[in-house]
Amino acid sequence: MSDLLALTEPGSVAAGFSAQWTDRYTHAVMDTFGPPQRVLVRGEGCYVWDADGKRYLDLLAGIAVNALGHAHPTLTAAISAQLGTLGHVSNFFGTPTQIALAESLLRLAQAPDGSRVFLTNSGTEALEAAFKMTRRVGPGRVLALEGAFHGRSMGALALTHKQAYREPFEPLPGGVEHVAFGDTTALDEAFSPAAVAERGPVVALVVEPLQGEAGVRPLPPGYLAHARRLTSDAGALLILDEVQTGVGRTGSWFAYQHPEIGGGIVPDVVTLAKGLGGGFPVGAVIAYGERAATLLGRGQHGSTFGGNPVAAAAALATLGVIERDGLLGQVHDVGALLREEIELCGSPLVREVRGRGLLLAVVLNAPVAAQVAAQALEAGFVMNPVAPDAVRLAPPLILTAEQAREVAGFFATLSLPTEPADVPTEGETR
Ligand SMILES: Cc1ncc(COP(=O)(O)O)c(C=O)c1O
Repeated sequence: MSDLLALTEPGSVAAGFSAQWTDRYTHAVMDTFGPPQRVLVRGEGCYVWDADGKRYLDLLAGIAVNALGHAHPTLTAAISAQLGTLGHVSNFFGTPTQIALAESLLRLAQAPDGSRVFLTNSGTEALEAAFKMTRRVGPGRVLALEGAFHGRSMGALALTHKQAYREPFEPLPGGVEHVAFGDTTALDEAFSPAAVAERGPVVALVVEPLQGEAGVRPLPPGYLAHARRLTSDAGALLILDEVQTGVGRTGSWFAYQHPEIGGGIVPDVVTLAKGLGGGFPVGAVIAYGERAATLLGRGQHGSTFGGNPVAAAAALATLGVIERDGLLGQVHDVGALLREEIELCGSPLVREVRGRGLLLAVVLNAPVAAQVAAQALEAGFVMNPVAPDAVRLAPPLILTAEQAREVAGFFATLSLPTEPADVPTEGETR
């Protein structure tokens, strides 16, 4: 057998060679992320194993991706069956899985007549498509929020706020204006007649219902309803980036569907990715109503892999298991338990837990999130220092109450870190 094929055999990786794999990584993989914390070889349910055979409870799920955990039999079977039947066609052709996925997303979004879906391979591509839609509205400003993360490709990066990500790649596509996070007065100013006279009309507002990469920061109640009124009055698109919050992560299909978050609004566009394929790369743009759905006409956008039948089968299986197994309710219940148990764990380091469902940040009383994540890894828990003082938990949606209690148990025993951690915080490498 060829060496390359031998490497595709599950279990082909010899145990006990973690350090060697890490060394090989640093010599072969471009250094955009820094060295890997561990080299992982296997997963099952909410657990992953590293190349040395150590087991971890995965509370990051590939950054809010592995909705069904690892190696879920229904997902694995759906992907294998589709790949064994028809693995790829060009966009000159349709496939039943692609069509059924688009229909399912429209149903779950309760999208009105005339709505349509564009399928992508990732979150940043979903944002690129949405950004192109804003250009079709007409000339004008695209608003995004301070702290926003919308991806790393050039259009998505123009919407992303963080200067360290943007500056090395300027000039970025223009016309984007960032407004203060969660501040309705700042939003009013951006839409005001004076701002329009001086800086041009607003054609779109792009917003995450809950900012993930900025530290799991929820918008204040009423913000999205206010944004909907302003965008509707201005004829501008309201684009909700649910790449991180969508597909059940917060306990509803989409975060904006919680009345306390969305206030009953209907957006113009929702972007999805991450959890949609349960670990298989797939994203989507849902355009609500005929106006949004026809902004990109024939020949104005495309993707070789977008709508790939295997990716669509993975997404259908993921959505299907979430629906069949009542995971939205489980996310709500286990998320509430996880939050409460951590808040009550008695650690002097824990200030509060914020977020929704199974997208939570444990906010610490000191900027030691990287050290806490490093301690967690040693103790067998994967979690992510999303901000200097906040650790993000975004586990598989199948996390059990018992596993949630184990996590709280880790926080209860947390000792005050004194050593610097070698786990990077989000902003350093991601
Ligand atoms: C809200 C949001 N939008 C877009 C993206 C980019 O998605 P991807 O990494 O799949 O390109 C992310 C990734 O973290 C995200 O959280």
